Amino acid sequence: MTPKHPSESLTILTDLVLPSETNPLNNLFGGELLARMDRAASIAARRHSRRIVVTASVNHVAFNRAIPLGSVVTVEAKVSRSFKSSMEIFIDIWVEDRESGNKTKANEAIYTFVAVDDTGRPVEVPQIVPETELEKQRFDAALRRKQLSLLLAGKIKPEDATELKALFI
Ligand SMILES: CC(C)(COP(=O)(O)OP(=O)(O)OC[C@H]1O[C@@H](n2cnc3c(N)ncnc32)[C@H](O)[C@@H]1OP(=O)(O)O)[C@@H](O)C(=O)NCCC(=O)NCCS
Repeated sequence: MTPKHPSESLTILTDLVLPSETNPLNNLFGGELLARMDRAASIAARRHSRRIVVTASVNHVAFNRAIPLGSVVTVEAKVSRSFKSSMEIFIDIWVEDRESGNKTKANEAIYTFVAVDDTGRPVEVPQIVPETELEKQRFDAALRRKQLSLLLAGKIKPEDATELKALFI
């Protein structure tokens, strides 16, 4: 399978925050942002694998900044690393200033998707070759995050989390 670059899976979703999508403080409801991120990540995973993909895990979400009603929100998703059948998707959330048009980063998240066949069985995906400095950093740390996610899900034993152990030795 020919390896791919993260840029080949880049997915950008831009949309408004409408009244029905806000909490009592008139900020974007967290569940709405999670859904937008899941959609963008799913398209990125599909672009990388050209397969049916399913969300296996939401590894990390940081709601660092509230996003007010009426904001223009951009969700940017890219595959940061692929393994055998799973792909880590890194998601950056940007909010656009109405007057200047400048974008500031509001939140970020990391999802894991798995490529599957018609019966839901995991299938192999192309490997990733990172290009930019940021893509290389995210690629390098992805195995650690995969091991942490599998450990928390009870799918591997602590002694098998070699990359995590290396952090503390
Ligand atoms: C995701 C799913 C396909 C994994 O199936 P499985 O039988 O556990 O298959 P495996 O154990 O072979 O795991 C497949 C891959 O997923 C990875 N994976 C599974 N659970 C994971 C988790 N919690 N975190 C990170 N990676 C995970 C495995 O490490 C493996 O990766 P690799 O092939 O790249 O090494 C299966 O659990 C599933 O279909 N879940 C439901 C998905 C869904 O419906 N999502 C929508 C939300 S409701």
